[in-house]
Amino acid sequence: MKQFISVNDVTDINALAAKALAYKSNPLSDKQLGADKRIGLLFLNPSLRTRLSTQIAAKNLGMEAIVFNVDKEGWALEFEEGAIMSGNTVEHVKDAAPILGQYFDILCIRTFPSLKNRDDDYSEMFINQFIKYAGVPVVSLESATLHPLQSLTDVITITESLRMNPVAGKPRIVLSWAPHIKPLPQCVANSFAQWINAWGEADFVITHPQDYELAEQFTQGATITHDQDAALEGADFVYVKNWSTFTDYGKVYENDPEWMLTEEKLKTTRNARVMHCLPVRRNVELSDEVLDSAHSLVTRQAGNRVWAAQAVLSEIIKNK
Ligand code: CP
Repeated sequence: MKQFISVNDVTDINALAAKALAYKSNPLSDKQLGADKRIGLLFLNPSLRTRLSTQIAAKNLGMEAIVFNVDKEGWALEFEEGAIMSGNTVEHVKDAAPILGQYFDILCIRTFPSLKNRDDDYSEMFINQFIKYAGVPVVSLESATLHPLQSLTDVITITESLRMNPVAGKPRIVLSWAPHIKPLPQCVANSFAQWINAWGEADFVITHPQDYELAEQFTQGATITHDQDAALEGADFVYVKNWSTFTDYGKVYENDPEWMLTEEKLKTTRNARVMHCLPVRRNVELSDEVLDSAHSLVTRQAGNRVWAAQAVLSEIIKNK
């Protein structure tokens, strides 16, 4: 693997998930693989799970991980080519990235979208500029439109759950929009849709209110409905996530609490397992009763972030 920006960087999703689950069984099986190598974890935005799980994954492979909170501790970066830097930005990415490429063997970066200009966000300028100028493999810790480490984790968690509780035929996986008080990125939903479609081993349904359509490039292949009750019927997995509007970009049109997933709504499912990437707004997106019930996979899911990161870093090191 040369980089990890989206599912398109993966040749065999099942093989990568199997590798991650093998690391879960034996975390230190490759503890020499990354000896004398160093990864940089650059955060332009906050994180709990991504930051810590990637550090642990690197440590398990014998690598040194250095975290740099660019947003709080670094110079304000400029990303536009040809920018006249007479404003607030202090250092151009074309100067900073090659230096980081000398310091690190792998560069991992988290950025978020502005949610103001859709074309800018969907051009993925921030991460693409690092790829262009760093000269070392780049791993996305979440970009403006995708969150591939989260999605790999989600496939791993579903695979693991199906091993423990097999279902007849293809599992029915439902991505269900949830209310939220703030406009959130589409990254997790886009990425989950992209991965589940590419995986091809599920009956995949996306349900959301009117006007919350996601970009077709990611959802193509899924069944899309505005009827949440119909979507949930017979579901084996329900992935709950809020996202802001894509068409009239970055807005919160409605916050109908009826879309919150409750135990009552799970009654028509096939004892569905419930997933969420976290952090979650309790009793807004998901009720306490669901999150604290045996239906919830969220803690297992977050735990699996380590094995997803370890599998990806391992594949990149082997390719270097
Ligand atoms: N799910 C996720 O990426 O969590 P953090 O934002 O805490 O890293």
